[in-house]
Amino acid sequence: MLEIIILAAGMGKRMRSALPKVLQQVGGQPMLAHVLDTARALDPGRVHVVYGHGGEQVRARFNEPMLNWVEQPELLGTGDAVKRVIPHVHDSSRVLVLYGDVPLLRATTLSNLLAAGEFAVLTAELSDPSGYGRVVTDSEARVLAIVEQKDATPEALRIRRINSGIVSAPAAQLKRWLLALRPNNAQGEYYLTDIFALAARENASALAVDCADLSEISGANDARQLAELSQAWYARQAADLLDRGVRLAAPQTLFNRAQIDVAQDVEIDVNVVLEGVIRLGEGVKIGPFSVIKDCDLAAGTEVLSHCHLEGVRTTGACRIGPYARLRPGTELSEGSHVGNFVETKKATFGRNSKANHLSYIGDATIGANVNIGAGTITCNYDGANKFETVIEDGVFVGSNSSLVAPITVGANATIGAGSVIAKNAPPAELSVARARQVVVKGWRRPSK
Ligand code: UD1
Ligand code: CA
Repeated sequence: MLEIIILAAGMGKRMRSALPKVLQQVGGQPMLAHVLDTARALDPGRVHVVYGHGGEQVRARFNEPMLNWVEQPELLGTGDAVKRVIPHVHDSSRVLVLYGDVPLLRATTLSNLLAAGEFAVLTAELSDPSGYGRVVTDSEARVLAIVEQKDATPEALRIRRINSGIVSAPAAQLKRWLLALRPNNAQGEYYLTDIFALAARENASALAVDCADLSEISGANDARQLAELSQAWYARQAADLLDRGVRLAAPQTLFNRAQIDVAQDVEIDVNVVLEGVIRLGEGVKIGPFSVIKDCDLAAGTEVLSHCHLEGVRTTGACRIGPYARLRPGTELSEGSHVGNFVETKKATFGRNSKANHLSYIGDATIGANVNIGAGTITCNYDGANKFETVIEDGVFVGSNSSLVAPITVGANATIGAGSVIAKNAPPAELSVARARQVVVKGWRRPSK
């Protein structure tokens, strides 16, 4: 059985934030969420998370039954952290140690590490290895020791192969080696890395497995590094969409933090943010500067520039924007248009119905071939309760009208511009509700 131990007790002082370090976000998700996603992809028997003082916030954020939370009351080193968990681990298991603040590791990289041998450590060759533990190997990449920067001799400091900290080891041996750790080093800590020399002495050396993509083993200690990792994460997401055939006008300006399903010939213009769960049908076009969250857009849907869509479903080719705000429960049918400065919420538009300018349409069911004039407002809220508006097929609502819900506008009715409609409007008739125009004969403008 594979048991994963995630070290997440570090404080992250340099983050200058009230939020615990592993809750700091990379690509719109806490770092620990990325690590847990990767862990899950390996299908482990169990996942243990070592958390530090004040880590209740971290536990509360990830309330998952799969996780075994173990507190490390004092930060006495990576060896101490693993030691806290090891009594919970089966002797026959295989242990994989991950860091909660190293979010971009790929599951495939870890599978390679696990496949390399029973006892293996993920390493990398760096042109500037400063700060990291140096990996001393023999000619066959067997690890003889790992030496921390602060304890290293000048000779060890010249080694450019570094320890990523990601280790896989058989549990029974690991337990034994952990018991032998002593804090007699420059930092007075229990170093997990001391197990490598102990193992070498038993002729049970670990294998060093190099990781080619350095972003995978990079951690974040401050805001700058968070931003760098986010950038790397978004670049990866964009590359994945390109591999799936999506046309991206500028991959470096796509911020995709969604779980996304795409058909062919989807086009996404510059500076777009994708969130939640998204499905884009064939030929969907997303215009520049738009935010799309939790949407299911049917083939041929066109979103013009500067739109904000959340919880929107389209069932046929339709046009949205520019400058439209579509809120949850908006559903658009084939041929419908929702244009500039229109806000919708829980609103269904039938085939070929249009609200092209400056409207609020909420809690509304709109039939087919309806024209909503500029400035139309569904007055759905009386300060306490929400009410429904029903607009049947073929209705024409004149500009600047208020429809006071609950209300039904019958099929093919016309609403005169500027009306406040508070009673049901009968089908096929003109309803007007506004003051009559008067002409004041002989009236003169004031003058000085
Ligand atoms: C550690 C390694 C070093 C490696 C480097 C890679 C040791 C002794 N050194 O260095 O060889 O090159 O990682 O980044 O292992 N943590 C705890 N409890 C503790 C201490 C740390 O949970 O008491 C966690 C941290 O939250 C972090 C991880 O362990 O996720 C590594 O800790 P950090 O202090 O960054 O590692 P270093 O000691 O710098
Ligand atoms: Ca570190």
